[in-house]
Amino acid sequence: MLEINNLNVKLKNSDKEILKDLSLLIKPGEVHAIMGPNGTGKSTLSKAIMGHYNYEVTSGKIKFMGEDISSLDVSDRAKKGIFLCMQDPTVIDGVSNSEFIRTAKSEIINEKVNLYTFIKDMESAMDDLSLNKNMLHRSLNKGFSGGEKKKNEILQLKVLKPKFIILDELDSGLDVDSLRIVCKNINDYLEENKDTSVLIITHYPRILEYIKPNYVHILNDGNIKYTGDMKLALEIEKNGYSMINEMIGNGVNE
Ligand SMILES: Nc1ncnc2c1ncn2[C@@H]1O[C@H](COP(=O)(O)OP(=O)(O)OP(=O)(O)O)[C@@H](O)[C@H]1O
Ligand SMILES: [Mg+2]
Repeated sequence: MLEINNLNVKLKNSDKEILKDLSLLIKPGEVHAIMGPNGTGKSTLSKAIMGHYNYEVTSGKIKFMGEDISSLDVSDRAKKGIFLCMQDPTVIDGVSNSEFIRTAKSEIINEKVNLYTFIKDMESAMDDLSLNKNMLHRSLNKGFSGGEKKKNEILQLKVLKPKFIILDELDSGLDVDSLRIVCKNINDYLEENKDTSVLIITHYPRILEYIKPNYVHILNDGNIKYTGDMKLALEIEKNGYSMINEMIGNGVNE
């Protein structure tokens, strides 16, 4: 599904290198989690996969379903089925939430979406997420609470139906009940779309108890330093990241 080989990414118009020789292989239907200290490059990885204009790939490749997408722009990557649930979703004043999602959907399926069926689908998806329907007609993310922004990202996911989902700190801002509801919606989607793969960026194992990962990677200083499974996420919560240095020092998981 997604194959990243020796990826180096720097900030555009700066010498700052963020990702250093990072490689990652995600097969269809797999769930991978990435954890790691603040400022180590997790969101940069998600933006580099999505093709954010601020980040420049200096070497290495990102392949999606066998095709090198490194030079495609964001909208072409979205059309191919890549979806990023952003850590900090952007406010777009003056563009209503429904207009935004309907336009995105029309672009992705390459035909105009019927307004009546669209509104019906949106309302049913909003019920699934316990989202207030007035949010359909408000400006995108304007005045949305932290949790509402995250739920609204998952509303987009339900409508746009991606093949590859990146969740960048979906759990930050969601209360315990909302996290459960949102994860149920994602799991239902994965149940119906078994080839869909997920990359979950998180600081806490709780979300991984709902959406079970096949692999847990630890990213530090722009590279994956260690790979394990759910047990690793629980150990990190208990002992912090210093244990990773000790494990690498002992030659474990080289
Ligand atoms: N647009 C930018 N301008 C300046 N520095 C940036 C920019 N984007 C990323 N960086 C820097 O690159 C590094 C990696 O940032 P990134 O957002 O990928 O971290 P992260 O691992 O997602 O952290 P967190 O866990 O806090 O979300 C940080 O030091 C950050 O300050
Ligand atoms: Mg981040």
